[in-house]
Amino acid sequence: MRKLPFKERSLLFAPMEGVTDEPYRIAIDRAFPEWDYLCTDFLRVPTVGKFSNEKILSHYGHKVLANSQLRKKTGFQILTSYRAQTEDTVKKIEAINEITHLDLNLGCPSKKVNAHKGGAYLLSEMKELREIIQIIRKNYSKTFTVKIRIGYKNTDKFFDSLKLFEDEGVDAITIHGRTRDELYRGIANWDYIKKAVQSVSIPVIGNGDVWTLRDIDRMFTQVGCDSIMLGRGALKTPWLATLYNQYRDNYDELDDDFLLEERKKYLQNYFDELEREYKKVQTKQVNVLNRFKSFSRYLFDDFQNGDAVRSSFQRAESLDHFKDLLYGI
Ligand SMILES: Cc1cc2nc3c(=O)[nH]c(=O)nc-3n(C[C@H](O)[C@H](O)[C@H](O)COP(=O)(O)O)c2cc1C
Repeated sequence: MRKLPFKERSLLFAPMEGVTDEPYRIAIDRAFPEWDYLCTDFLRVPTVGKFSNEKILSHYGHKVLANSQLRKKTGFQILTSYRAQTEDTVKKIEAINEITHLDLNLGCPSKKVNAHKGGAYLLSEMKELREIIQIIRKNYSKTFTVKIRIGYKNTDKFFDSLKLFEDEGVDAITIHGRTRDELYRGIANWDYIKKAVQSVSIPVIGNGDVWTLRDIDRMFTQVGCDSIMLGRGALKTPWLATLYNQYRDNYDELDDDFLLEERKKYLQNYFDELEREYKKVQTKQVNVLNRFKSFSRYLFDDFQNGDAVRSSFQRAESLDHFKDLLYGI
């Protein structure tokens, strides 16, 4: 088993399509360096044609590639299917010395992706899954992890898939506690994550509905996972890892008013760093504004009249207007 690029009890910022592109990851690392690890969103391996090296490098990010500190804390995620050019893509990623961690997305619930037998679909087809895992393991010598849901239509094959990963030399498993068919409904089932921790000898990273410091504590103590990955919780509170570093031993004493004041303070910092990065790559202000609006989905949930606050940001007519609203909260 290879060493993971993050220590035990790390907090990982989840890969998120439409969010975790290079400028976002750079901005997050600058604003909230307490996140132990980041990851690209998925690069979908083509069925027809092959990726150029440039496609792979730019998905990871040239600036990240050139920054050894950030590189060490950034994984590369792919999404593939049975007929796709997995071997070719993995060989190309292997050849880039600076990329030292490859993660396979086995959780994507998109209809289109699943219809092409990719993403979470593979959790229902052990034979195809094994072949893909073997191709990757054979061609990738560095850390290789998978990110799964607890099943496709149901959880019947959950334990078979865990054993498969372990037998085929996968280095760690991130588990989102929902099946594909559950999409984002209900609450993530952490019992399955706990059972996985008890049944495999490789590290398990828990994922799903970790929103608060209390959730982080519960995930570590009740589920016993090695590390935790946060998706929507990280979008709602991008400074959660910072708070965790400061208050992990006394989070119970923090009241809602204090956390709201922290939120106001950190929001400014968050958008300042995002603006700095996105302005380097976006020539049109309106594009930056639209990104900011898309990042705002969960940020205002804890405000009194959260819906009204969110809509005021969604209606902002310019970047300056958006920033004025931020100064005013
Ligand atoms: C907007 C969005 C985009 C996502 N894109 C990806 C992705 O590219 N790769 C991936 O493995 N998971 C992706 N996910 C799933 C998350 O990484 C995570 O597993 C899921 O949201 C459950 O965790 P949470 O309850 O902390 O949000 C995405 C989730 C969201 C909300």
